[in-house]
Amino acid sequence: MSKAAHPLAGKVALVTGAAGGMGRAYAHHLATLGADIVIADLDLGAGKRWGEVEDSVEDEINRLGRRAVSVEGDLSDREAARRAVAAAIDTFGRLDVLVNNAGGAITPAERSTATASPEEDTSRLLAANLYTALYLCQEAAPVMTRPGGSIINIATLGVFGASRTGGYAIYTAAKAAVVDLTKSLAVELGPVGIRVNAVAPGVIRTPRVVATAEQRGIATGDQDAKVPLGRLGTTEDMVGVIEFFASDLSKYVTGELLAVDGGVHHVSVL
Ligand SMILES: NC(=O)c1ccc[n+]([C@@H]2O[C@H](COP(=O)([O-])OP(=O)(O)OC[C@H]3O[C@@H](n4cnc5c(N)ncnc54)[C@H](O)[C@@H]3O)[C@@H](O)[C@H]2O)c1
Repeated sequence: MSKAAHPLAGKVALVTGAAGGMGRAYAHHLATLGADIVIADLDLGAGKRWGEVEDSVEDEINRLGRRAVSVEGDLSDREAARRAVAAAIDTFGRLDVLVNNAGGAITPAERSTATASPEEDTSRLLAANLYTALYLCQEAAPVMTRPGGSIINIATLGVFGASRTGGYAIYTAAKAAVVDLTKSLAVELGPVGIRVNAVAPGVIRTPRVVATAEQRGIATGDQDAKVPLGRLGTTEDMVGVIEFFASDLSKYVTGELLAVDGGVHHVSVL
């Protein structure tokens, strides 16, 4: 494998929420760059729900010529986070890249403003979006390659400003906490050579987002025109940025947050 074509050859990447959606795309892309992959997800069959995956993401990675191992569990449970990290070390003997992608705005949108959000939704959103990332970072940091490790935390466009209705308030608060954690971790782990960055996707047309567009009012046709680059995003738009942060292309970058949203967070109401 040439170093230029396969900058992650011999490396190992753990991607959370990798059974479907963007996490699956990240796992594929990191595998094409040469990495072996740990797939961690609450539900390893998640990719079948919207018809994305025929067999399993593990099989897909194997077909790309890379090794893969899968771990099922709720990563907001510290023990499951520990198992995911242990799978990397026990199976492949190392961990170079961690993508904290698990999460989502998983509670009912119609009761998602700050004042309407019931306790149970608040707990679920903090667990899925903040605790998953926090526990994975805590478990992974001591065993990641140093120097050379890279952690990428997935945030959201919502960290730059509230939605027009004030909805998704707790979801975006949880992601904002992840962005803040990214900065603290970057400072703490910089001296041992582990970089920590965050990525904020705009609306990305994953199969789930497309299937639920009308019901959630997200990714409906009229939203393309509101984006400076003229369209909502695709998983293909995301993977290059993950490559940038996972590889030496960003070797002197840490603690940063990069929006991948076609410029939409720069648009004001005027
Ligand atoms: N799709 C978008 O437009 C968009 C926009 C901004 C941010 N994001 C963020 O990007 C990430 C991926 O989004 P997606 O659209 O691909 O979502 P998705 O629902 O298609 O995939 C998320 C995956 O995470 C898994 N997951 C959820 N909670 C988990 C937990 N507690 N433990 C382990 N796995 C868990 C799910 O099973 C699922 O496979 C999420 O963090 C989401 O908040 C998505």
